[in-house]
Amino acid sequence: MMYDFDKIVDRRHCNACKFINLPDDVTAMSVADMDFAVPPEITDALHRRIDSANYGYTMMGDEDYQAVIDWTRKRHGVTVPREHLIATPGVLNTMRCSMYAMTEPGDKVVVILPLHTPSIRSAAMMGRCKLESWLVSDKNGNYTFDFADLEQHFRNGAGVLMLCSPHNPTGRVWRQDELEKLAALVIKYNVKVVCDEIHRDLIYPGNKHIILGNLPGMAERTVTVFSASKTFNLGGCHIGSAVVANEDLRNKIRSKLYEFGHECGRPPVFSLAAQTAAYLHGEAYLDELIKYLSGNIDLAMDYLKDLPVKCMRPEASFLLWVDCRKLDLDTQGLNELFAKAKISADPGHYYDTYKIADYHGKQHHFRLSVAMPRSQLEAALKNLHNVLR
Ligand SMILES: Cc1ncc(COP(=O)(O)O)c(C=O)c1O
Repeated sequence: MMYDFDKIVDRRHCNACKFINLPDDVTAMSVADMDFAVPPEITDALHRRIDSANYGYTMMGDEDYQAVIDWTRKRHGVTVPREHLIATPGVLNTMRCSMYAMTEPGDKVVVILPLHTPSIRSAAMMGRCKLESWLVSDKNGNYTFDFADLEQHFRNGAGVLMLCSPHNPTGRVWRQDELEKLAALVIKYNVKVVCDEIHRDLIYPGNKHIILGNLPGMAERTVTVFSASKTFNLGGCHIGSAVVANEDLRNKIRSKLYEFGHECGRPPVFSLAAQTAAYLHGEAYLDELIKYLSGNIDLAMDYLKDLPVKCMRPEASFLLWVDCRKLDLDTQGLNELFAKAKISADPGHYYDTYKIADYHGKQHHFRLSVAMPRSQLEAALKNLHNVLR
């Protein structure tokens, strides 16, 4: 290995969200970012930028756009025309502004649950009417879309679908046949899709990420939103990209982003240096990271396998969606379990309701991040194992 993912990086002293107010002996397994160092190619680029000693307004240059295009071609086999690409201030902003650009207050927007909480909230913003469709799972815990339910929503007038692909929190990489069936439905009912592909670079062997906007008939009706933030742990940089083939929609999205304070193509100076370095030089790091994370997932699956919980192996990213229904815990019970195990993790209700603080009912799942040095992960899993046994 060229990169050292075993190295402990102290994030407690740089205001990292998931460590705020966290006692020293508790392992942070909540927020979806990683505890590894970024590749030195990124820190070198940042040092060079700092040394320029001038941090005035900057714009994406040709090299910066080309880095995004080349990365997408190398990692996903798709060549994005330069004019379809928008430089954005991150994924959530762009998801929301895309949805605002496609709808009017009162319009129906579908989200598929469970889902990353802020994304659920997005669908109800600025007076939009959020409609929920639940994934269905078989007895082994394999999730897929409820196509009949989705069709019902589309038939009833929902004009936009907010999709997460690959999916947080279940870790599913939607297969070609699933996406083709979904595409057939959205085309039939003339629905537009805002597709959140933030986790798309972290795909485990045996799976292939399909860009929905690339399926026949989908380009004109799809906005594909992505970033390097999960891939290279640049979440704090708030920078990303979107691909919008439909010119009219692209202009509307640019205007919406502007209305909400973001000028496309003018990212924060250090974020731009980090993103371009990541896309230009990050391939070897990513290949090793995927191997390392896969080893972490093996370890976690091993610890969980003889416990009264169920977890499908994630096909992408570094989050485990653990079914804890057998434990029959409410929120307080789950919090007590986390306290005993000395971990902080997200309770399942974050992913289907946004009543984050005042939900006291039964807990069906919890979500664990495994993106940390293996020694730390193993210590946390041992604790969890002991408590659950
Ligand atoms: C599915 C998904 N979308 C969006 C985000 C946030 O993206 P950004 O910070 O670029 O707004 C996250 C972060 O956890 C995520 O998991």
